[in-house]
Amino acid sequence: MNKYIMICMFICVALGAGSAMAAEVVYVDGIDAAFPPFSFIDEKGQPAGFDVDVIRWIADEMGFEVKIIPIDWDAIIPMLIAGNINLIASGMTITAARQEQVAFTSPYWTIDLAVVVRETKDAEGEPVPELTLFSAVQTGRKIGVQRGTTSQDWLEENVIGAGIDVQLVLYENFLLALEDVLIGRIDAAVMDEPTARSGIVDRPLTIVGTIKTGEIYGYAVRKQDAELLALLNEGLRRIQASDAWDRLVDTWLVGN
Ligand code: ARG
Repeated sequence: MNKYIMICMFICVALGAGSAMAAEVVYVDGIDAAFPPFSFIDEKGQPAGFDVDVIRWIADEMGFEVKIIPIDWDAIIPMLIAGNINLIASGMTITAARQEQVAFTSPYWTIDLAVVVRETKDAEGEPVPELTLFSAVQTGRKIGVQRGTTSQDWLEENVIGAGIDVQLVLYENFLLALEDVLIGRIDAAVMDEPTARSGIVDRPLTIVGTIKTGEIYGYAVRKQDAELLALLNEGLRRIQASDAWDRLVDTWLVGN
């Protein structure tokens, strides 16, 4: 046996052992518990949503275990970097600032932002938005966003930065912002459009306009976790090539 064959055998054995061990690996996925339709805790107290189902499918396919735990959104990247969780799958937009801190998988979804206001009734009793997009985003208006989101960034850069003095009110999660729109404590809330669509269901709230940010979502891991990143990317490639992807898109995102 020449030494090349021996090296090959050694590598093959090492790879085999690696994949056998991979079955035991548990990766912890941190999610925002209030970000439907991507990640939330359902009525039974179980993690649910598009990202939850996608990660579970990938874990199953790629042979690792996943444990999903809720984490406050504004602490989620620090928790990842500190090693409390291994990945974030929770409607996170890939941004240049975040890419300095963490590594993202390939993009898996694209979204715009939506502006939500109260709904009222016109003279005929038809539901109409209380404010227009134009009147909602003006000096003196109070606008709610989830702290540490691209909605906050967008308003700071493009509205406040342009001299329109809206008052930003920061919330732990987007639902609290919607509650405050409902009771009139703030005038509007800005958030990812799919989440806005799910949040206005059964509430006298409406989307009065969208902001075409065209942002793209990815799953985040620590920069040094190249192995997990490769697993997730391969898993994404496989699910997107399978019927499961269309089924989940249909269940969580399109029918929404
Ligand atoms: N996509 C936006 C961002 O990444 C909002 C995400 C909020 N996601 C969440 N799970 N709360 O900043």
